[in-house]
Amino acid sequence: MRHTAIYPGSFDPVTNGHLDVIARATRLFDRVIVAVAHNDLKKPLFSSEERMSLLRHATREMPGVEVTSFGGLLVDFARQNNTTVVVRGLRAISDFEFEFQMALMNRKLHSDLETCFLTPKEELTYLSSRIIKEIARLGGQIDTFVPPQVAHALRAKFA
Ligand code: PNS
Repeated sequence: MRHTAIYPGSFDPVTNGHLDVIARATRLFDRVIVAVAHNDLKKPLFSSEERMSLLRHATREMPGVEVTSFGGLLVDFARQNNTTVVVRGLRAISDFEFEFQMALMNRKLHSDLETCFLTPKEELTYLSSRIIKEIARLGGQIDTFVPPQVAHALRAKFA
């Protein structure tokens, strides 16, 4: 059975690791909704509009990918989109505790919701948006970790 899946995240900004997870998800699901979370408590470097625009550009050739944003609970967003599958990337054991807690809590809030963990290519497992922002801020080379548009946008933020 093939369905719609939601891939939620902060994507501040999208990295090659996220893109690898999205590409894997498109092979499993007909439609992948990449959903940029609004979180009033976090201070993102890129606005939701900027994050969506970078994601749309980076996924423009991937079949069945839609990019949008959401506020509020992920379970409510899943219900609004009539889907019961959430995709998350799992890079290392260090991700596991938080991801496990989130998956179980989401299932408490919405008993039909399943979280599908996908692991990116091993050479991308050390990537994170946080580390890439730090490297960019300190003037390091980021071109192999993010798509060209994102590298350009990061350089512009820290110029
Ligand atoms: O990329 P991130 O920051 O690891 O993504 C975390 C995200 C956005 C998936 C998570 O914080 C989330 O689902 N937020 C929406 C609010 C919500 O439903 N919170 C309860 C999760 S158990």
